[in-house]
Order: sequence, then structure tokens, then C-alpha cells
Amino acid sequence: MKIAVAYSGGLDTSVMVKWLMEKYNAEIITVTGNLGQRKELVGVEEKAKRTGASKAYLKDLTEEFVEGYVFPALKASALYEKSYPMATSLGRPLLAKLLVDVGLMEGVDAVAHGCTGKGNDQVRFEVSVSALAPHLKVLAPLREWEFKSREEEIAYAKKHGIPVAATVASPYSIDENIWGTSIECGVLEDPMVEPPADAFQRTVAPENAPDTPEIVTIEFEHGVPTGLNGETLDSVSLLHRLNEIGGAHGVGRIDLVENRLVGIKSREIYEAPAATILHFAHTELERLTLDRAVFHMKTQLAAEYATLVYNGLWFSPLRQALDGFVNETQKNVSGTVKVKLFKGSTIIAGRSSPHSLYSPDLATYSKEDQFDHTASEGFIKIFGLPVKTYHQVNSSSRPVPVNGRQKRSPRPVLS
Ligand code: ARG
Repeated sequence: MKIAVAYSGGLDTSVMVKWLMEKYNAEIITVTGNLGQRKELVGVEEKAKRTGASKAYLKDLTEEFVEGYVFPALKASALYEKSYPMATSLGRPLLAKLLVDVGLMEGVDAVAHGCTGKGNDQVRFEVSVSALAPHLKVLAPLREWEFKSREEEIAYAKKHGIPVAATVASPYSIDENIWGTSIECGVLEDPMVEPPADAFQRTVAPENAPDTPEIVTIEFEHGVPTGLNGETLDSVSLLHRLNEIGGAHGVGRIDLVENRLVGIKSREIYEAPAATILHFAHTELERLTLDRAVFHMKTQLAAEYATLVYNGLWFSPLRQALDGFVNETQKNVSGTVKVKLFKGSTIIAGRSSPHSLYSPDLATYSKEDQFDHTASEGFIKIFGLPVKTYHQVNSSSRPVPVNGRQKRSPRPVLS
């Protein structure tokens, strides 16, 4: 038996390598994807091999992640439950794809992941694998193995000579990539407790942020960012830079009690400086460039898009269909947005676009006004006619019933 394991180098997946070798007498190939997290992945292959893997793959997927997963979600304005930019949710399908690619190349019998049995990530991994390689068996050791605590895993690791990091374990469960950091567990499980300072990984507390605001100027082309402060940048550099700038101003902290797909509410802290700034700026540009009906419809579909991604349905026909709609809407979402960052907040400081639908001639209250005021009178009469009719028939000021019989209401008149 040959198994490809989604491997991070952490305790769970390291123990998993040995556990699968023992249980299935299997040959293990580890697969690690870099999604632009700041933690160095150097040495991860050696660690995998020292743990018993016959082969270890490490692939930098940052650019593919940003352009193929993050930007579509940005264009769709996809924020789960109006808040979470979904760094983790967007990363899983790509990691599953890498696992499948390697698995097929190596001719494995099964793939395995290190997700627990009560989270969303198991769903995202397994649904993605089933979409990309329906015949591949998926193993989820954490759902079935005997270890009840971190201590038990450490004991197992020591017994089997698995290198365990000497550093004090974080009391939190942390998942990070270029689009954001997800932090949960420990004291964060009490939604009444304000997150302690040590929970945050990449942002300063807003109260400790600089006393002077900083303005960032972001260039968009067809809904995706292409430049920062006048400089054209590749997508990955732009995100890294915006994460640094935003993090220094305490921007992008999100404290969310959210609804997991598996039915439980959980409390998670997110840090997503670049995602927060880009979603904010992108929506401001859409306010300027999108037709009203398109903007309204797109706002509704944004929630659908986010829920679908959160629920692990990235590789679904609905996501592709929604991307078709979204891409059509982004044709003219090009231009410049200025965002002021100040002590944790993003403030709009200006927007412009060659496709701006904002017409000064129509909007102005000065003598340059081109709007036909007289046209409004007839428009309002007809626009308000159904409401007027309703109230003429049903209002409390209409004649009261006489002898139990209702007097006929006056007919609505168009005047
Ligand atoms: N709740 C988030 C999601 O479902 C993040 C899950 C992973 N979080 C973590 N701290 N390991 O996308």
C-alpha cells in the first residue's frame, strides 16, 4: 500500500506518517504546499524523511493560490458571514489538488489528511479529492486514531524517534497563508474573552499602531490589484507588501463566531491585513464602476459564493458558473483607490476610474446641473402608484364600515 499524505511538518501530520506506516504497512509519500505563509518550510522534506517517508514533495503554490483562488474570491467579494476572507477555506482545495497530482503521479492507493472530525477542512479536502480523482481513497487518521491529547501524540512521537519541536507549543491552533491567518482554541473558545495579545501573529494592536495615518494607493485592472503606491507589482509581492503595511496599522483583525458546515458554532480570530484592505478598496471601485442592477445582484451572489467556498465546494459547477458571472461584471472594474489606514481601520480617501459611472453633470447641485428635474414629477407618480393605491384601499383613515358592511373605498386616481 502506498499513501500520499498532506504534510505540514507539525506534530499531527508527523505522527500521522508513522501511524499510517504501522497500521497499513504502507509506503508514505509526503506532500507539502507553500501558500505564502511566513513560517519557513525549509527542512520540511528532511523532517518527513527522518519520520519515515520514502519521498517528500514540497511545492511553492503561492502564485497559483493568489491568482487562481484568492483573486476570484476577491472579485466575487466573497466574505463568509460578511466577515471572513477565507484564507483557510480557499487554501484547502489547492492543497487537495497538489495531493491528488502527486498521488496520481506516484500511483498511490490512498491519500491522507490531518484534519479533525469536527471541522470544515476535512470536508474541503475530501470533497475536492472526490471531484479531482473520484477513485482515490481518502484516509483521515485524526478521526479514528487512539490519541486523546497532544501529550499522547508527543509520547508516541518520542517512542518512534519522530523529531518533536523543542519550542513551547502555542496554546492556539494556527493556520496561515498569504491571504490571512486563522487562530483558534485555548482561551479563544470563550466568546466573552477578548483575545490576549499573544494570539495575534501578524498585526499590531490598533492602540499601539502609529498615531499618523498612512494612505495606500491601489491600482486595479478588471477587478484585480496590479499596483501599489504607483508601482506595478506582481500579485504575490503586492499581497506581501500590503500585509506588512496593513499589519503595522493594526488593520485586518477579525473576531468571529461563525457557523461551521458541520453544525457547530465556533469562535475564531483572523488576521488578514491585505485581504481586508483589498476587499474594501475593490468594493469602493465597484460602487463607482458597476451599473446599479449589476452591483445589487452581485452583492447577493457574493454571500452565495462565500458560503460555497466555505463549504468546500470550490470544484463545483456552481462556482464555475458564478465565476462566469463575476468575470463579466469585472470588465470595467479598473481604476485607482486610495485607502487611509489608521489604528485598525480602513477609510476611503479617494477613487477614480476611466469607467466611472459617476456623472458630475448629473450629480451636481451647482448651476452646471444637467439633470431634468421636471421629469421626476411624472416618474414619482407612476413609481409610487402601487403604494398609493394600497393605502387608499387599506389605510385607517378610510371611511369606517357602516352596519358591518364596508363602504367602498374611493377609487385610486392618477393625479
Ligand atoms: N474556521 C476557519 C475555516 O473553517 C479556519 C479553520 C482552521 N483554523 C485553524 N485555526 N486551524 O475556514
